[in-house]
Formats: sequence, C-alpha cells, structure tokens
Amino acid sequence: MSVTTIPSLDRLYAEHVNPQWVRLLDLLQMNVSYERCLGGELFIAGGGRVLDFLSGYCVHNTGHNHPEVVAALKEELDRSGPAMLQSHVPHLAAELAQRLAQLAGGRLRRVFFTNSGSEGVESAIKFARCHTRREGLLYARGAFHGLTCGALSLMSDEYWREGFGELLPGTEGVPFEDMDALEAALSTRRFAAFIVEPVQSEAGVRVPAAEYLRAAQELCRRHGTLFVLDEVQTGMFRTGRFLAAQHYGLDPDMVVIAKALSGGLVPVGALLMSEDVSDSMFSGLKRAFVHASTFGENGLAMRAGLATLDVLERERLGERAAAMGERLRSRLAAALRPFEMFEEVRGLGLLNGIAFRSPSRLGLKLPFEAFRRVHPAMFGQVLVMRLFRDFGILTQICGNSFQVLKAAPPLTVSEEQMARFVDAVRQVVEIAHHPGEFWSEALGMARRAAIG
Ligand SMILES: Cc1ncc(COP(=O)(O)O)c(C=O)c1O
Repeated sequence: MSVTTIPSLDRLYAEHVNPQWVRLLDLLQMNVSYERCLGGELFIAGGGRVLDFLSGYCVHNTGHNHPEVVAALKEELDRSGPAMLQSHVPHLAAELAQRLAQLAGGRLRRVFFTNSGSEGVESAIKFARCHTRREGLLYARGAFHGLTCGALSLMSDEYWREGFGELLPGTEGVPFEDMDALEAALSTRRFAAFIVEPVQSEAGVRVPAAEYLRAAQELCRRHGTLFVLDEVQTGMFRTGRFLAAQHYGLDPDMVVIAKALSGGLVPVGALLMSEDVSDSMFSGLKRAFVHASTFGENGLAMRAGLATLDVLERERLGERAAAMGERLRSRLAAALRPFEMFEEVRGLGLLNGIAFRSPSRLGLKLPFEAFRRVHPAMFGQVLVMRLFRDFGILTQICGNSFQVLKAAPPLTVSEEQMARFVDAVRQVVEIAHHPGEFWSEALGMARRAAIG
C-alpha cells in the first residue's frame, strides 16, 4: 500500500498540536490521509483502503459512520432543540439513561453522563468517596483507566505516570486476579472503591477466571467497599453482552462506559450506578448540581447514544460479537500454532489479543532480544507496521503489554474481512520467523528513530 498524506497539513499539525505524534506515525509508515470511513473500512485519499481491526480502541462497535447514527445527528441539528442551557431537564438524557438502565439491569438505575471514559472514572472516584466517606481507592495493576490525574492515579505503569508528580492520595494497586492481596487491602477498610476492568484490555487482553470477579465483588461487599467496573472498552456489546459484567452474573455498584456509546461520532461517557450511591451525591436541594459537567448531557451525544443502541440491538451485534469472536480466536489459533513465537490468542467476544513470546531458537532469539533492548515494543510495532503497509490492516499492540496484538474489529465484521485478517497475520508472523527480512525492517525503524 502506498503511503499518502497531505504534508502541509501534517506540518501545521506538528507545528500547532503535537509534532511527536506526526513523527511517530511517519516512523511507523502509518501516516496516511483518510478520506472516508465506512463500516469496517477506511478509504485513503488517492486510492487504497484499510481494514480496521482496532476500532479506535473499541469506539466503533457499530462500524464507522453508521448511516442511522449519522441521520439521527442530522435530525437533531435540524430541529434546533435545547442544548447546553444548564437550566432545563434534558429529555434526551432521560431517554438514554432509561435505555442504559434497562440494558444494564440489577441496581444500575441511575446515570451520570460524562464526555469521556476518564471523566467517568473521575466521577466514580467522587461518587465512591462521597458515598462511603472513605478516601482510599484500590485498583488492579496493569489497568488502563484514563490519563486525567484521578484516573491516572489508578494505573501502575510508570510510563504513564512519570513526570506528573504526586497524584491522588490513598490509592493502592493489587495484582489482577490475586484474591489474597485484594482481601488484605480491603480488610483495612480504608477503601471507598475497588475499580477494575472485567477484562484488562491494555494489560494484554487478560480475561480473568470466572470466579475472580464474583469473589472480588463479594469481598468488597463484606468490607464496605464499592465494586466499580470500568467497561469503557468491554461495554456496549463488545464482549457479546451489553456489559461484560453480565457474563459473570455481577451486580456492581457502579459501571463506567464511554467509547462506543455514541457510535464513534460524539464524545460521551456514562457512569451507571445504584440509587443509593447517586443519592449520596445529590442528597438535597443544595447539592442538586454539586457534581456536573457542561457538555455531559448534550443533545447530540444523547441522540447519537439512542441511535447507537437501536443499531446494536436491531442488528444483534452482541450475538454477532460472541459468535464471530469465537470463530476468530479458533481460526487465529489454528493459523498461528505452527510458529514458535505464538503463545496464545485470548479474549471475549470481539475484544481479542494475540500474545507472542520470546523465541528459543538461537537465530531468532538473538535479534529478538537485541531489539527488545532497543525498545520493548519493537517486535510488536514491526508486526503492526507490516500489517498496515503490506496488507492494509489497522491494529495495534496493547498499551501496557507490548507483545500482545489487538484483534478488535467493529462488531459488524464480515466473514471475508475476518479471513483477510487471519491470513495477513499468518503471513506477517511467518516473515517474523525468518530473521533476515523482518529484523532488517526493525533495524531500519531503529535507525530512523535515532536520526529523526
Ligand atoms: C478501560 C479504559 N478506561 C478508561 C479509558 C479512558 O477513556 P477516555 O480516553 O475516553 O478518557 C480508556 C481509554 O482507552 C480505557 O481503555
């Protein structure tokens, strides 16, 4: 695939927004100018198309620019309805909240709308502290909860935290799936909430044993800590059910969703919670707006959310995600089994990770280790680059686990698209097992990074 971009606008972006982002995309040979994005495909200016197997990290569950969501947004603009008055009851927010509560079930009957996943996590922190009158916040190590200061306080990875000084006090990480550590922490009764992703996405698509989350919830109840799920990636039918919590029969106190809620078209997030948690915050007239956000219930986001739920339900994209996910995992496993660097493919629904391991054969081990010393993400990034450049497939490695490649297409993915992806990954992995060609690419990348 030829790489096309618009250099003058790239330069403008570099000058006024973020020069390093442009540099990185250039380095990875992934800097192309997209003209149109439809369904699972991205069309490049001047020709060429890319198959999206990343979905903007689980934003595009309904596919890019779903016509029904686009139509709902146009209608909302045309009707000149109330927006951002901050002085009325936003009826669209009522409708969307009711739909979300019905889909979530259990005690999740109240909704606080936000503009992003991070803001949802920030809000969960405030609601939890307010409800329990405790300060402590417990999280699972390896998590990704967002990059605002509060959410970042719930992430252990030094890459994200370094340079930002003291974050929120009272936060503590425990290893994911370690019940003893969780119980020891909770029994101090210092913690307002335990915040956890039901499937740790950026940590390498780690799907816990079925009992873990149920036992964690039970422990939280016992020690007066709120059990909070971050479903920013796993929610909105990505894993097959509306919430991943529903696979495990959980009854959380709060759930954060965002990303796919508005069909990938308007920033939005939602914190679902029980009535008693909500009532602690909004406990009287004087506190009617003690926690709020200017754009939180805006009409465009709410209309897009309603239309997106219509599409997800009518097209039965949850069931589709479950069925296609299973097929994708078994086909990938069959195609990659012969290769020594392939470890496993794991996931739930259409949130999947292909995990690689260090090779043992000397001819492979030497370059692999050498490049890992240059940068731990080097191997994964060369896979990503080749998939993009040679096969027109967009994906990425996990943010906190560089040897895991994401396989998370829109839930509308077709059999043919899935076959294309599996075949491309097989070919790229095969090349990776022939040291010369693959590693000379890595060497080129390392050189360009050093010079650029
Ligand atoms: C699991 C999870 N939680 C929270 C966030 C933060 O969401 P946002 O980027 O919308 O602030 C992300 C973002 O990738 C995420 O993956």
